[in-house]
Amino acid sequence: MVLLNDNANLFGVNPAVAEVADKFDFSRLWAYPSENSDVLRSKIGSEFGVSPDEVIVGNGSDELLDMTSKCFIDPGDKFCSPSPTFGMYRFYARVNLATICEKPLRPDFSMDADAILAERAKLTALCQPNNPTANLFDRRDVVRVLSESPGVVVLDEAYADFCGSNMLADAMAAPLTIDIRTFSKAYGLAGLRAGFAIARKEVVDELRRVRTPFGLNSFTEAVAARALDHRSWVRETVSRMKVERAYLDGRLKALGFRTYVSECNFLVAKSPVNGPALVAALRDRGVAVRDCNSFLMMDDHIRVTIGPRPMMDRFLAEVEAIIEDVRP
Ligand SMILES: Cc1ncc(COP(=O)(O)O)c(C=O)c1O
Repeated sequence: MVLLNDNANLFGVNPAVAEVADKFDFSRLWAYPSENSDVLRSKIGSEFGVSPDEVIVGNGSDELLDMTSKCFIDPGDKFCSPSPTFGMYRFYARVNLATICEKPLRPDFSMDADAILAERAKLTALCQPNNPTANLFDRRDVVRVLSESPGVVVLDEAYADFCGSNMLADAMAAPLTIDIRTFSKAYGLAGLRAGFAIARKEVVDELRRVRTPFGLNSFTEAVAARALDHRSWVRETVSRMKVERAYLDGRLKALGFRTYVSECNFLVAKSPVNGPALVAALRDRGVAVRDCNSFLMMDDHIRVTIGPRPMMDRFLAEVEAIIEDVRP
């Protein structure tokens, strides 16, 4: 399968993997890793200008989302997010028996900050830039939610490395905001499973109460720490991705798709033919893309991860053939 459905970095694996594997003392794997991944937290602290006490790491950022709900949701507490957004926020909130309040995005995919704040939720989640719509929300709207929410706010910046801006300073200015990042996207390490969150120490201390000890294995910790040194590799794959994103955008428009501005490593497009049927036909031909029909306002939309030209051309060739087949 050509996997254009999960927004991993299709431009390759971070060079940190080979470097660490070369020198790593595998004969010491009998020993437990450090309980709180101290080396990685210190490295993240110095890279992002925060104290290691303001950092917590997890097995992918998904584990941090899970911890956040475990920690801050009691049964019946309100969880709020815009919709559509990354589905795992709702999943973890539901597992912890939250009352779910989702506030629809406007038709231009902008966020209604007033509607979100009016819920006075115990936990709110924002994704900036947003998956699956690929846009950045207005900074002022995000700042309002971070600073005026009475509860904890998760600011998921999984795709921040693709858009060239982030809101860490705004997150740290708000006492109850948790800025969540991942090594799975621009850092090219989805298979490694590593993510981190930055928040004020009081909030990190609370999250630690629900964290499993020795949560990251020692190899993962070493690779993730080394990956932070490979900024130029990340920058280079991001700029290659942007060239391919512009190429795909033009080709899809020519095939009759409506495309949207993207700040991420994926493109959202409205299909000129039935969306779920297109996704199923692509799957039969060995290409996986995300069917967005289950999302509000996204009937017949697909989400395609950007990859190198041969992958984009393979996808486009299959799309062309399918559209030919279904058109009278
Ligand atoms: C917005 C967002 N947050 C978090 C994740 C989870 O990433 P991981 O658990 O691989 O760090 C994803 C993965 O697709 C995502 O799109």
